[in-house]
Amino acid sequence: MEFKEKLRAYQSQVESAIGEYLPAEGTRPSRIHQAMRYSMQAGGKRLRPVLVLSAAELFAGKTDPTPAAIAVECLHTYSLIHDDLPSIDNADLRRGAATSHKQFDEATAVLAGDALLTYAFQLIARHYKSQPSLCAGLVSELSETAGSERLIGGQVEDILGEGAPLSEDTLNFIHLNKTSALIECCLVMGGIIGEASDAQRDTLRAFGREIGIAFQIIDDILDATSDAETLGKNTGSDAELEKTTYVKLHGLQRSRDIAHQRTQKAIQLCQSLPGDTSFLVGLASYLENRIR
Ligand code: IPE
Ligand code: IPE
Ligand code: MG
Ligand code: MG
Ligand code: MG
Repeated sequence: MEFKEKLRAYQSQVESAIGEYLPAEGTRPSRIHQAMRYSMQAGGKRLRPVLVLSAAELFAGKTDPTPAAIAVECLHTYSLIHDDLPSIDNADLRRGAATSHKQFDEATAVLAGDALLTYAFQLIARHYKSQPSLCAGLVSELSETAGSERLIGGQVEDILGEGAPLSEDTLNFIHLNKTSALIECCLVMGGIIGEASDAQRDTLRAFGREIGIAFQIIDDILDATSDAETLGKNTGSDAELEKTTYVKLHGLQRSRDIAHQRTQKAIQLCQSLPGDTSFLVGLASYLENRIR
């Protein structure tokens, strides 16, 4: 299958699984279930669940990665809902639609985020409980990633850094944790489900780190150069909030070059993975050249 065709197949698998796994809108209290579905079903690239599915497929394991894929998308979507809140990035557009706090209200957005974060772990516990060691591995990986030393840690330094120029080291800490952490985690979770060896998991993590940093560099570039219609979210907000970004620190061309180097490094790492890695290679390049 061609890369684009394979990507679309994974994405539609994710879309239907979201519909199937999330609590129905009518479940009491329906307001929270509506808000959860609203943000989850607004679209999005589905990069993180696609990474779980495609990483698992490299290996011979027989366990279904779909519930884990939906779990990471729930966790990612929670992080976006909270990232958009007035007290964080104060955004009103996400995935081409009003942000949760604009569509509903701030309290509902906070709670929908809380609920999606929790639901990620409910899904993993429900679907993998008959394999306790695999289940514990997934919970451990995802909770380490989402916690105060990684995803939240990155978000905290991102906010603390507003209004003052940051060093390259601090910016790398932010990117590595607010963005790369979850991308690494998706690949490792795919590896856990596929029963990859420890060395293979390390390679998956290293691949995730490279594409994750490149992903946030491109996100910073798009924030500075794209428009809301193309991107489906507000642009120019990094400059408005006086954030230090790759673009601010290195300029556009050097940022593009660094993203390219990171992508090439990721592609090289694929050589030490088993199975057919052509999708992951294609994905790394696709992400470097994305326009949304
Ligand atoms: C946005 O992630 C947040 C960042 C880490 C830059 P995505 O660009 O993957 O957002 P969706 O899921 O496609 O909406
Ligand atoms: C947010 O980074 C990363 C997380 C949500 C953890 P950004 O603030 O740059 O993401 P966007 O640009 O709003 O999607
Ligand atoms: Mg932010
Ligand atoms: Mg933001
Ligand atoms: Mg951004």
